[in-house]
Amino acid sequence: MSHRQLAASGLEVAFGQRRVLRGASLEVPSGQRLALLGANGSGKTTLLRTLAGSVRPGAGEVLVDGGTLAFDRAGLKSHRQVVQLVAQNPDDQLFAADVFRDVSFGPLNLGLGEAEVRQRVDHALAVLSIEDLAERPIHELSYGQRKRVAIAGALAMEPCVMLLDEPTAGLDPQGVDEMVAALESLRAAHTTVVISTHDVDFALWWADRVAVLVDGVVHHGDPVAMLSDADLVASARLRRPLVLEAAAQLGVDPTGVTDIAGLVAAVLADAAA
Ligand SMILES: Nc1ncnc2c1ncn2[C@@H]1O[C@H](COP(=O)(O)OP(=O)(O)O)[C@@H](O)[C@H]1O
Ligand SMILES: [Mg+2]
Repeated sequence: MSHRQLAASGLEVAFGQRRVLRGASLEVPSGQRLALLGANGSGKTTLLRTLAGSVRPGAGEVLVDGGTLAFDRAGLKSHRQVVQLVAQNPDDQLFAADVFRDVSFGPLNLGLGEAEVRQRVDHALAVLSIEDLAERPIHELSYGQRKRVAIAGALAMEPCVMLLDEPTAGLDPQGVDEMVAALESLRAAHTTVVISTHDVDFALWWADRVAVLVDGVVHHGDPVAMLSDADLVASARLRRPLVLEAAAQLGVDPTGVTDIAGLVAAVLADAAA
């Protein structure tokens, strides 16, 4: 899959009197891990849905390779083959009786032949390490398994960019490990991965770039620089990741750190000294 550049410029989205996005601009760096951070109700889901073409902004534009997304039938149809959104709750997305049928729904809808559909489904299940679930009824699966099936369904559309709304929320530690492995497999399959989360520790550990939603606008940059900024995280109603909080309290400068394990080692060495 080729990388496409997804971006948004000056997005305004309001629900009634409530202005959720107030001029939000974002560039999704192709091939990198981007974490969209914000407190509950800050507009993460709304921004992802707008990027995916499911919410039409009152102003501003969604861009693919610099071209403006047209919110008409043809524009949205081609957009869905570039960008796929995976909802936070898999039960909002899964509806077929079994895994194979659910994952094949999108490709079948594209009008692809049976062999191509089967090949796409097999590939998507393999990337998510859920080949063994193919014949299983959806209702027998665990929450984490249903989340991975929902991702497989999006992947079978062969998008360049996958937007995953809170993929780690509600998972136990083993479920999180399996989800992280799935996200890495998506990247290995040349898909740009964007996740939303309010988990600052996870974002620091996982992301190459972070985007932080503050009052309907997006601030983006390097994870260590952004998440050590006490004022920024406070205005986003978040907190600093534990390791950056410890670094600040011990006077260890995290600037320029790219390796979080190295930072933890520096913090531990400083604490022991
Ligand atoms: N379809 C909608 N209709 C009305 N209000 C909405 C709708 N979607 C979201 N909102 C409101 O917009 C705000 C942002 O919601 P959301 O994007 O879901 O935030 P987050 O995902 O960061 O928790 C919230 O106040 C929410 O109640
Ligand atoms: Mg949300």
